Amino acid sequence: MLKFDFTNLFSNKVPNNITLDEVKSYENKINQIIKEIDTNRPGFVETIFSRKWIDSVLDLKDTIFQFDNLVVLGIGGSALGNIALQNTLKPLNWNFLSKDERNRKLRIFVIDNVDPDFVASILDTIEIRKTLFNVISKSGSTAEAMSNYLIARGIIESYGLDPKKHLIFTTDPEKGVLRKIANEENIKTLEIPQNVGGRFSVLTPVGLLSAYAAGINIEALYDGAKIAYSRFLKPLFENPAALIAITHYLYYKKGRNISVMMAYSNRLYHLADWYRQLWAESLGKKLDKDGNIVNVGQTPVKALGAVDQHSQVQLYNEGPDDKIITFLKTEKFNRDIKIPNVHDEEALSYLQGKYLSELLNNEQLGTESAILEHGKPSLKITFPVIDEVHVGEFFMHYELATAIAGELFNINPYDQPGVELGKKLTYALMGRPGYDEYKINIEEKRIEL
Ligand code: PA5
Repeated sequence: MLKFDFTNLFSNKVPNNITLDEVKSYENKINQIIKEIDTNRPGFVETIFSRKWIDSVLDLKDTIFQFDNLVVLGIGGSALGNIALQNTLKPLNWNFLSKDERNRKLRIFVIDNVDPDFVASILDTIEIRKTLFNVISKSGSTAEAMSNYLIARGIIESYGLDPKKHLIFTTDPEKGVLRKIANEENIKTLEIPQNVGGRFSVLTPVGLLSAYAAGINIEALYDGAKIAYSRFLKPLFENPAALIAITHYLYYKKGRNISVMMAYSNRLYHLADWYRQLWAESLGKKLDKDGNIVNVGQTPVKALGAVDQHSQVQLYNEGPDDKIITFLKTEKFNRDIKIPNVHDEEALSYLQGKYLSELLNNEQLGTESAILEHGKPSLKITFPVIDEVHVGEFFMHYELATAIAGELFNINPYDQPGVELGKKLTYALMGRPGYDEYKINIEEKRIEL
């Protein structure tokens, strides 16, 4: 089980700190929210209590393992979970290992942008004949995913290969152009549950296919998510998701409108990236559920220890009092390196003979203590080990915390109306029929240097 330490959020060293009594005053409200979530189980919860999604991926086993590479084409919630799973659970040099070293599992690449330099760099690396492309788009219409699909398909065809053999679409069971093409051409598909939105979809086939292809134990991910769910049904002070939600909410109300997640592990850093989208897109809203303009949202920031001690921590310690910090750490790294005894120098003797893991975890503790001395609140999540069970648990705690925070802010955490306008303006700029009304009026007099 993940270990949570909330102590430093309640310390008197934090000016205007939140208190246990303040949290307790929300107990009834939170119990009510939990009851509602448990009764009406949102899609991301329902998913983990069904075998359907795991089985749909396992059914593709023979197709997947004919290939050497899997390239995911998607963006936002259709990519970040894949990136997080891959980087957290596979060695950071996975794609550089030989097929035998990978135990015949696939290399995984995620193309989640339309920067031509980036796209080309991946397409130049892979052998198309040995590559399976997984196009992921819930709506089946997102410009970035669709353009990369068209490019991939163009290349597949230019090699004289059968697109049906090299493509799997992960999309809505009924809607969208991907579903239409799949039906017309008999292309293999995986369904995204209709009641699960992109940023909540990591434990649906969106995240499961690439995870399975890389040899990640997808059943253990669900085991971890179920542990998180069982902890979510516990009383408030034993309930990590509820405590994350209420403490962030209360500190937000006291002016801490930035939530930093600082991972002391290059692998866990990718969870902070996933969290950044979940917290931002779910909770950053103009309107509340009653239609009032509220413009709420806590800006999530990701940071990496020890690197960002030399980049960000000066600001966290001495800058504005507007942050709540979450540290991620692990008790067990997959590998460790002993710092050798090379010099007879007093200034280096405290390092020589020690392990890098010890140095990194002491840097975490040092930063956490310094941050508290500077009066900033923090919490800490410890992974006893970075494996499928703990990562699955992490995803579910944060999805549940987001759902609870949505209720506390009285906003809908499952929509993203603020993303729409930019999409429409881009369609108009690209000449998509039906979007003329969104043509941008360029100011006559521009202030450009
Ligand atoms: O969380 C979300 O809903 C978004 O980030 C979507 O995942 C993203 O916009 C991609 O959408 P789609 O899967 O429809 O291509």
